[in-house]
Amino acid sequence: MMSYEKLLLENKAWAQEMVLDDPDYFNRLSQLQTPEFLWIGCSDSRVPADRITQTQPGEIFVHRNVANLVVNTDVNLLAVLDYAVTHLKVKHVIVCGHYGCGGIKAAATQSDMKPVLNMWLRNIKDVMRHHKQELDGIADEEQRTDRLVELNVQEQVYNLAKTTIIQRAWKREERPDLHGWVYGLKDGIIKPVYEMKAGTHIDPVYEYDNL
Ligand code: CO
Repeated sequence: MMSYEKLLLENKAWAQEMVLDDPDYFNRLSQLQTPEFLWIGCSDSRVPADRITQTQPGEIFVHRNVANLVVNTDVNLLAVLDYAVTHLKVKHVIVCGHYGCGGIKAAATQSDMKPVLNMWLRNIKDVMRHHKQELDGIADEEQRTDRLVELNVQEQVYNLAKTTIIQRAWKREERPDLHGWVYGLKDGIIKPVYEMKAGTHIDPVYEYDNL
């Protein structure tokens, strides 16, 4: 059997199991999704959003990319954000990074990752520049990278707050709250590191007054 064929077999087994448990399961789920959460996570295969939070299909709307970045020209991310916030009306947006993130580690080196990855990872280098003083004060390399993972999550939450999508929802409906979390590959535990309640004021440079 080819490796991918196992996925299809496992899928059939899973679907049968779900129906045995609850005959109406797929019928019900196919009618409606009302997730309360938007998850913006890393593409890393070791950080599956639903598995590590024990959530079921229908509970979390998910976007994943390398190093869980919120880039203001990323149409893919913005479309997901707009749909989740404006139409699904999620109550919480979670940016979840993880310790040991390959994207973060690569950005922290000076090696040329070739054009596309360089372009993407440069967003993390900007986070490093914003927090240079604090990062330079950490002697241990692993600790410094761990802290960069946390600061990156914090900056991505801030990037969310800069969007009119979030600011408009804050102004009109006082949601969603924004959360910055970091998952530990070594212990499976998620650590909340940053939070921004709906309506929080940010640097006026980024605030729009005619929403
Ligand atoms: Co990662």
